[in-house]
Amino acid sequence: MDGSDGIRKGEAMKEIGLVEDALVAVDGGKVVYAGPADGAPSIEAAEVIDCEGKLVTPGLVDPHTHLVFGGSREHELALKQQGVPYLEILKQGGGILSTVQATREADEEELFEKASFHLDRMLSYGITTMEAKSGYGLDADTELKQLRVIKRLNETKNADIVSTYLGAHAIPNEYKGRSQAFLDEMLELMETVKEQELAEFVDIFCETGVFTVEESREYLTKAKEMGFDVKIHADEIDPLGGTEMACEVGAISADHLVGTSEEGIRKLGETDTIAVLLPGTTFYLNKNEFAKAREMIEGNAAVALATDFNPGSSPTENLQLIMNLAALKLRMTPEEIWNAVTVNSAYSIGRGEQAGKIREGRKADLLVWDAPNYLYVPYHYGVNHVRTVIKNGKTLFERGERVGKVSVS
Ligand code: NIG
Ligand code: FE
Repeated sequence: MDGSDGIRKGEAMKEIGLVEDALVAVDGGKVVYAGPADGAPSIEAAEVIDCEGKLVTPGLVDPHTHLVFGGSREHELALKQQGVPYLEILKQGGGILSTVQATREADEEELFEKASFHLDRMLSYGITTMEAKSGYGLDADTELKQLRVIKRLNETKNADIVSTYLGAHAIPNEYKGRSQAFLDEMLELMETVKEQELAEFVDIFCETGVFTVEESREYLTKAKEMGFDVKIHADEIDPLGGTEMACEVGAISADHLVGTSEEGIRKLGETDTIAVLLPGTTFYLNKNEFAKAREMIEGNAAVALATDFNPGSSPTENLQLIMNLAALKLRMTPEEIWNAVTVNSAYSIGRGEQAGKIREGRKADLLVWDAPNYLYVPYHYGVNHVRTVIKNGKTLFERGERVGKVSVS
């Protein structure tokens, strides 16, 4: 799959650059040929993988995860069943704040081991490039600890991981009622994050009871002045207007967007801010209204999809399940879905020129699927369809089983 260059907006999301009877040649971890087998240059190959007519795609790109955290929140399931809303659990000091407590208590090694476990599972499901956020520290020490873990994962594990500083994820108990004072502290920490090169992006949770649109605008504007690209958790639960603001400040992506207004949809179409949709979260929060993907795409927006992997609102590493939900709940077509987990998701984390396509000169991040065609994966749900995961030209997983040691080459 290759096709045109750049972000795929609106109509362009129909394009997947499918090649039938293809051949991909890899050398030194990079793609050296990708195209029709008929007409390929003759190559002396040390190893040949016969894909038996099955689907081959680029490695999946997951552009929104909260990969590094302490503990888990299975006890919240009963509260959810009783109908206690997500924001009410947070208000009572649970939710994100209970993960903050567990993350503060965990040492760096424990966080690394735990995140490695989840990361390997993501890789086995075909995610070879992803984003990971801090945001379960909400204090200098723990935010930096999380970001160092993300950096170490990127350096030592077989996935490319792009880091986002999400110090503004919730208001910690010690700052209750003093959101501006807390944001000032997180802004100060942002300078250290910049100096230590611990993140490329800055994100904020713009939501009722967390940060307002105006607080978010000011915070993200300062982040941009410091040289970060910015993202936002916007209009996830209450439709506050974070989407419009994200487009106005030139955010690289606006994420969630369940309650985005008509005006927000129009702005997404007019700008290059990518709509990162997280239908797994809407499903897991037990909501009936999903993001308006159809209106967004018909309004010329670029849509990407992500797991939002986190211990509260979306405990899953399975981006393939998100593809199924996108088909059923967002009414996205298979072509749009593939673009949303490859080309557009790569652009939404600044990796559009490195990942998301099988192209000569790029890293050989390839998936061979136990699927006869590209329609099959968004259709058959709940299982791992990946037969072979190849990262930088090396086979890491075969039908979910590790091949050799999973560490950096
Ligand atoms: O993207 N909404 C805010 N942040 C996460 C959830 C984090 C959590 O519940 O621990 C999200 O849904
Ligand atoms: Fe999130």
